[in-house]
Amino acid sequence: MSDARLAVLASGSGTNLQALIDATSSDPDFGGRIVVVGSDQHDAGALGRARDAGIPTVAEALGDHPDRPTWEKALADAVAEHRPDIVVLAGFMKLVSGDFLNRWPNNVVNTHPSLLPGLRGAHAVRDALEHGVKVTGCTVHLVDEHVDHGPIIAQRAVDVRPDDTEESLHERIKAVEHVLLPACVKLLCHDRIRLEGRVVRITSDNEES
Ligand code: GRF
Repeated sequence: MSDARLAVLASGSGTNLQALIDATSSDPDFGGRIVVVGSDQHDAGALGRARDAGIPTVAEALGDHPDRPTWEKALADAVAEHRPDIVVLAGFMKLVSGDFLNRWPNNVVNTHPSLLPGLRGAHAVRDALEHGVKVTGCTVHLVDEHVDHGPIIAQRAVDVRPDDTEESLHERIKAVEHVLLPACVKLLCHDRIRLEGRVVRITSDNEES
């Protein structure tokens, strides 16, 4: 895939989106560009970052729709109008269904703030502190129908410090995500990800098709 079209979905402040905006605009070899940013929150900081970068935005809140399938289809349809090849979930705090995933097979990617398969779910940083783990981190993975479960593309470890708060630990994890997520999306743009069962193999540059 050269010059892949990227959609980014985010619910929050959008620092991971910003890392993708910066990487795609500063790296001439990135191989992709963001064509739309979507959210389930009309006031997400991520939407402001997209507007500042001149990227089209779409927002569909769950509460605007009678049920979850209708909401998800409205969001997916709005995103699909921009014809993305790859959908990046960058702090998107809603689960997506098989109907959503089937529109972009093996091309929906997520970043999660723990070393999967440990500490799944929406409170992975808090759970790390409550469990007393000494090392946590982040995982970038392809999305499947189960929560924080799909094939792992890459992971990085982050040490937990004795005086960490949820906020301080999450900030250090995010700093690592800001490097790892763009790197993994670049691999997808260059079609360098192969699946063997649920194991991801990263092909070398010269194996690119
Ligand atoms: C990230 O840590 C992501 O892994 C998690 O939510 C956070 C989003 O942060 N799911 P931001 O909105 O990109 O700043």
